[in-house]
Amino acid sequence: MARRKKIYEGKAKILYEGPEPGTIVQYFKDDATAFNAQKKDVIEGKGVLNNRLSEFFMTGLANIGVPTHFIRRLNMREQLVRSCEIIPLEIIVRNTAAGSMSKRLGIEEGTQLPRPIVEYCLKNDELGDPLVSEEHIAAFGWASQQDMDDIVHLALRVNDFLSGVMLAVGIKLVDFKIEVGRVYEGDFQRLIVADEISPDSCRLWDIETGKHLDKDVFRRDLGSLTDAYTEVAQRLGVMPRSNGATKPTLIN
Ligand code: TMP
Ligand code: ASP
Repeated sequence: MARRKKIYEGKAKILYEGPEPGTIVQYFKDDATAFNAQKKDVIEGKGVLNNRLSEFFMTGLANIGVPTHFIRRLNMREQLVRSCEIIPLEIIVRNTAAGSMSKRLGIEEGTQLPRPIVEYCLKNDELGDPLVSEEHIAAFGWASQQDMDDIVHLALRVNDFLSGVMLAVGIKLVDFKIEVGRVYEGDFQRLIVADEISPDSCRLWDIETGKHLDKDVFRRDLGSLTDAYTEVAQRLGVMPRSNGATKPTLIN
């Protein structure tokens, strides 16, 4: 097979040129990083789980009319996505205080927020993805006012959808991060949900026990990350439940 052209390699994914113009192949690696890659490991099977989970969430969003970059899954580790211009922001939605918000504002982790709060971080690894305000975004031209209105609308729709899907399987959606991209259609442009939605980019707590089922398991050394992600995938019906004898095959 001819070698594909690599477009970009990030911490958890590689992007290759797709088979048709305007498409990209998104490959999910097993690499896990935290704290701007100061902590690193290879977690066997993580890429396979995140490929399947992102497919599940993106397909569900498309079904309720939220546009995403997802076209189809190609194999265990790859999906075909629509090429787009990524807005250089990480868009975070929080329902419950945790992580950097708890640290920054001194709010105990687990405190229910009065309403969902949307935050923005500038995508810049050298600076450690700093928190920025809408004023910074407008003044430096990272996104227009119309973009920001669309971004908040998309982010809150993703929050409603993901919260409901998780609640149905006994999981609380504490917070999550999305990225948004711009696509051009004739004279029009619009924003779509891009990158990935997976337990790497969400905080997910078991409603009964409070057990962490997301990347905090890795960040905070709380146990097996693969077991946590497999639990999410099994509850959502994305991976079959094993009969106890064997674990689902995650390698390849
Ligand atoms: P934070 O509390 O560390 O700011 O994280 C908020 C949410 O964003 C959490 O669900 C994890 C996710 N996140 C990413 O997806 N990528 C990142 O680089 C960081 C720092 C957080
Ligand atoms: N993804 C970021 C990193 O690799 C941070 C994180 O998710 O905690 O450093």
